Amino acid sequence: MKRRLVSIDDLSMSDISRLFFELRYKQDACRLPRAPIVMIYFLESSTRTHISFEMAAAKLGAKVISFNSSTSSLNKGESWFESLLTLDAMGPDVIITRTPFLLEENTVEQIQAAIINGGDGCNEHPTQALLDCYTLLEHFDCEDLDGKNILIVGDILHSRVAHSNIKLFQKFKAKLSLLAPPIFSKEMYGCKHYSSFSDVDHKKFDAVMVLRIQKERLEREIGMSDQDYFWHFGMSEERFSKMADHCVLLHPGPMNNKVEIDGNLRGHIRSLISKQVENGVLVRKKLLEQFFI
Ligand code: CP
Repeated sequence: MKRRLVSIDDLSMSDISRLFFELRYKQDACRLPRAPIVMIYFLESSTRTHISFEMAAAKLGAKVISFNSSTSSLNKGESWFESLLTLDAMGPDVIITRTPFLLEENTVEQIQAAIINGGDGCNEHPTQALLDCYTLLEHFDCEDLDGKNILIVGDILHSRVAHSNIKLFQKFKAKLSLLAPPIFSKEMYGCKHYSSFSDVDHKKFDAVMVLRIQKERLEREIGMSDQDYFWHFGMSEERFSKMADHCVLLHPGPMNNKVEIDGNLRGHIRSLISKQVENGVLVRKKLLEQFFI
């Protein structure tokens, strides 16, 4: 059957465990019998996901072809789906997509190539979840996140990263708390909800992940300036200093300095932000190698 990764639920726990095991203990270079072709079909801007898939594919010896929406026949009235079918008909081994909307089952079914969701609207971002979970397991040097308290702060409602991460962290037995203003809050099963830092026991968390406001997906104004948002919900250096002495900091990027986070925190001794980027290449390389080419 054709391989697909649209939701983090498309991988079984044994798939994920094998992937993480190989990542930790077998970093040997893979030799492919022929150079596979990885096609990148992104309809939205991206730095990390796009370039780290390119890096991962290059390290595997695959050929990468990137669709450029601004110079494509989308400008002549072709639909995004017609474009995708056209690229698929050229015969790539795998297509990695990023769409500003939900990647529907009906779309995926019509694609012959293997397909990986590099982020679809407010829905999911499964490879970000894999790299974030792997980064935490590696940092804590453990096989699961049992007993770990993780706080996710920010625009939960519109964040595909939050949706995939919450599912995956829960599969790995983490205890999750979500902090968001009511306009960005979303009920997620098994998570504690907060709407103010003043209600949070800062010392209880082993990790805190900060999310940016997904301004491109907002349907209405949030009724707060960037300065007010930072004051109430932002991760300032002072706020991070109140967290437990071992608490690590994650941000999937892109970061908006002095909106959801103080950019200086990237360089904090307990920041895993650069490690997330580094692991993004390793995780995507191993994922491509094991399941897609
Ligand atoms: N984390 C993430 O998806 O970043 P990009 O939008 O830069 O790919």
